[in-house]
Amino acid sequence: MANGFVLNMKVIIANWKMNVGVRESVALARGTLLALRGRRTLPEVIICPSFIALSEVHKVVARSSVKLGAQNLFWEDHGAYTGEISGRMLTELGVSHVIIGHSERREYLGETDEMIRNKVAQALENQLDVILCVGETAVERKSGAQRERVRTQLVHVLDGVHLKSHDRLMIAYEPVWAIGTGEIPEVAEILAMNEFIRSILSDVLPNMNANKIRVLYGGSVEGNNAYSFLREQTIDGLLVGGASVKLNQLKEIIDAASEVLDAQQTKV
Ligand code: 13P
Repeated sequence: MANGFVLNMKVIIANWKMNVGVRESVALARGTLLALRGRRTLPEVIICPSFIALSEVHKVVARSSVKLGAQNLFWEDHGAYTGEISGRMLTELGVSHVIIGHSERREYLGETDEMIRNKVAQALENQLDVILCVGETAVERKSGAQRERVRTQLVHVLDGVHLKSHDRLMIAYEPVWAIGTGEIPEVAEILAMNEFIRSILSDVLPNMNANKIRVLYGGSVEGNNAYSFLREQTIDGLLVGGASVKLNQLKEIIDAASEVLDAQQTKV
């Protein structure tokens, strides 16, 4: 904040998926901290390693501004659910954020909007900030059903959910066809979808100011295209997969965010 003007904070979320184990995660986390050093302005950075690396990565980032996120959680607090991890367990490890409803889980693990809704409730009960993923498939896009798909996902998951603060929820618009493919929507399409997402949020969360809920983009983000998204005021940040396990790429993405934030500060 400067002169009473609130800067448009940008968020960079690194979703390491099932790409790196403990040792590599620790090295990447250390590299991320180095990449953040000596900057005038910093985006908010959240790194999401696999469950098995959370504890070690937490040791690396604990005294930094970098936050720790999980890639999933279960919808119950405890009990006979073999192989599952609860929100309560995540908070024990220093996790503050959790990705919910990623399209890979919807596709390969059969996650439904109802399961995702229960997971969101569980995360909020445990004071975890939710990064909720939505997005249409290539087939839905081809038939012009992308808005309807995203609307349905948001309504099924969030209608009636009790949110105490805007900070507790981010929406990541990740068109399924753009994930890991090198194909990206036009920036104008993302802006239009973000506006649409905010209009749905106003309907389903009437007590919230939807303009304050952060809406991110994800899908084939790399160092060389990050700036084109981040310079847009209504794209609050990026959810990055493949490029986030390549330190030089992640650094370029953070550079792009810092450049945007520096420019904003100069204008104030
Ligand atoms: P890619 O950046 O590899 O396309 O993945 C995006 C994603 O799924 C992030 O959650």
